[in-house]
Amino acid sequence: MEKSQIQSSGSVPNWYARHMRTKQFGAYFGSTSSIAIGEVYLTFDRRHIVHRMSEDEFFVYENACAHAGAPLLTKPGVQDVRTLVCPIHMWSYHLNGDLKRAPMFRPCEGVQLKQVPFTIWNGMLLGFEKDEVDYALKHFGESLGLPSKAFDVAEFVFMSEEDYRLRYPAALMLVNYLDILHVIFMHFLTFALVASTDTSRWEFSNFLTRLGYSIQLVRSHVEVEKRRVQAMQSRSCTEEDTGWATFHLWLKEHLGNVKRPIDENIFAVWATIYGKSCIMPELYEGGLCLAVSYLVNEDPNDPMTGNANLVEYYLHKSVPEELRVQTMRRFQHAYEQSAREDDAICERLWEAHQHELTFHRHAHEELEAGDEHYRKWYMKHFVVNE
Ligand code: FES
Ligand SMILES: [Fe+2]
Repeated sequence: MEKSQIQSSGSVPNWYARHMRTKQFGAYFGSTSSIAIGEVYLTFDRRHIVHRMSEDEFFVYENACAHAGAPLLTKPGVQDVRTLVCPIHMWSYHLNGDLKRAPMFRPCEGVQLKQVPFTIWNGMLLGFEKDEVDYALKHFGESLGLPSKAFDVAEFVFMSEEDYRLRYPAALMLVNYLDILHVIFMHFLTFALVASTDTSRWEFSNFLTRLGYSIQLVRSHVEVEKRRVQAMQSRSCTEEDTGWATFHLWLKEHLGNVKRPIDENIFAVWATIYGKSCIMPELYEGGLCLAVSYLVNEDPNDPMTGNANLVEYYLHKSVPEELRVQTMRRFQHAYEQSAREDDAICERLWEAHQHELTFHRHAHEELEAGDEHYRKWYMKHFVVNE
């Protein structure tokens, strides 16, 4: 690497270790495609209850009783309830959060569970105020030439949601996600066979606003088949081990005549909306596949390593119905393969970082530009200053 490509980001070791004092805005509450009408669910961090009352009426409130703050629900996921009943003094609530009954109390008019602000953007329920979303995400993807509906979940079919454990601080996953340098070395059999890192391009929000984001776009290699054969020979492995290349070639063969929603030569668009959940809407294969990944702390007693990456998988509506199950299986296989590689990197980094070693962070100015942007935003907006 040439000297001119290296820039120092200063020496702030273990910056993410301060995450216990982070702010709460920017959670993800599911999407108009992933939440069924009538559904009630408790988020995976057990902090919020989400209810979809009708086609376009959603409620998000805190999972804390308005009497003395007891949690109303305890098991994350979809609930089979028509009323929310607090187990402590039996206050009950309508699903819109209004108090229904408070035994032994006089009528409590106007009492409600505490509503949490959210805004529906491209069908996704983001934990930000509407004016922030309108302002900060107005030109999302424009400089990369992405069509306005590229991330719109209304254009996709929700397939499934998976819960992947992270045994390291959630912000560390972002450090790795926002670095494309590791693709070449650590995803040798997976991403690197399809993603042409030379073509990588970034779009960054103004990091001065509370709602910050980054997008990285990478195009596909032209000779994926040849690269796969060479890689399989050099590493003595099978097609199974080359998930993304195998998926790419399978799509060409079976969905070759399906028009891609975005430029067919774009392999991936990795976006991150910074905040509590670090919502990562990821498009793959000309926008045919969408994974909305977000981070939660599932174990409040273990804020550093009790985390999870939740992933909602979607396929574009243009994927023929009879091929959706197969496409999804291959997409998930490829996704999980590279995610395991990322996990291994983060676990290695965490092994050293948890000992509070001091080091100077040198970031590659192009391939790791996202890391730099996220760090700046994180320190400015997300950490509670002492
Ligand atoms: S804490 Fe819920 S009813 Fe008292
Ligand atoms: Fe990676």
